[in-house]
Amino acid sequence: MSVETVATAPEKGPRHVALIMDGNGRWAERRGLPRVVGHREGVQALRRTIKAAPDFGVRCLTVFGFSTENWSRPADEVSDLMGLVRSFVGSDLKRLEASGVRLRVLGRRKGLPGDIAAIVDRAEAQTAHNDRFLLQVAFNYGGRADLVDAAQRLLDRARAGLFEGDVTEDDLGAGLSTAGAPPVDLIVRTSGEQRLSNFLLWEAAYAELVFQDILWPDYGAEALGEAIALYGNRERRYGGRDVLTDAPVVKAAG
Ligand code: IPE
Ligand code: IPE
Ligand code: MG
Repeated sequence: MSVETVATAPEKGPRHVALIMDGNGRWAERRGLPRVVGHREGVQALRRTIKAAPDFGVRCLTVFGFSTENWSRPADEVSDLMGLVRSFVGSDLKRLEASGVRLRVLGRRKGLPGDIAAIVDRAEAQTAHNDRFLLQVAFNYGGRADLVDAAQRLLDRARAGLFEGDVTEDDLGAGLSTAGAPPVDLIVRTSGEQRLSNFLLWEAAYAELVFQDILWPDYGAEALGEAIALYGNRERRYGGRDVLTDAPVVKAAG
């Protein structure tokens, strides 16, 4: 590794990693299996990834489980995905709670089947005391919908006389479903697609993006390690100047 890389690489690994878990359907189709098998294997990959994340220094994981646009899939696939939430919370909540994980579900509660909304509320309440690791599951989530909801909250507060003056970034950010979570350092998308698909639009502002060809059901510690290594080679400048530009050696040479 060159001196330049050392000077500009992020000192530490990402604290907050967000994952667009894509490719379950293709994983199954390539094996001649129904898509639901890919989704089930995807849950296994999620378990592996949650387990591995703290070893890389990650304190917060945000995963995209179901988008506001995923309702347009065939009813049986939507129902399979809802079923997986029921079984994941049912089988994993105790263990997550015991290992210090706080679970938070991002996205609109309204529009979810009643029993899922109740399961999600209960899971959040049951883990609310934990602070070792934050697991955010985006479910019935869309970045645009989340921004609309944040704006609506502000408007409601203004109408109730609880907010006045000009809107700041902090005001809007406080109304997003991710409010209070650490800044997103790294967004990873699997399956080779290179788009955000309405994930974390506001939060992505200065996140590093990594696209991996692996299909989500094959994900785990090794792939997460690769993504984190790629992050480690990035220069995060936040619109400022490259530190090398100001380095004495550059000035002397110029
Ligand atoms: C990601 O896998 C999971 C969800 C969107 C719920 P996909 O189901 O999108 O898999 P592909 O993209 O069709 O392979
Ligand atoms: C994004 O994946 C949503 C999730 C991973 C939950 P999609 O598979 O729905 O996105 P597009 O349709 O390829 O953009
Ligand atoms: Mg997909």
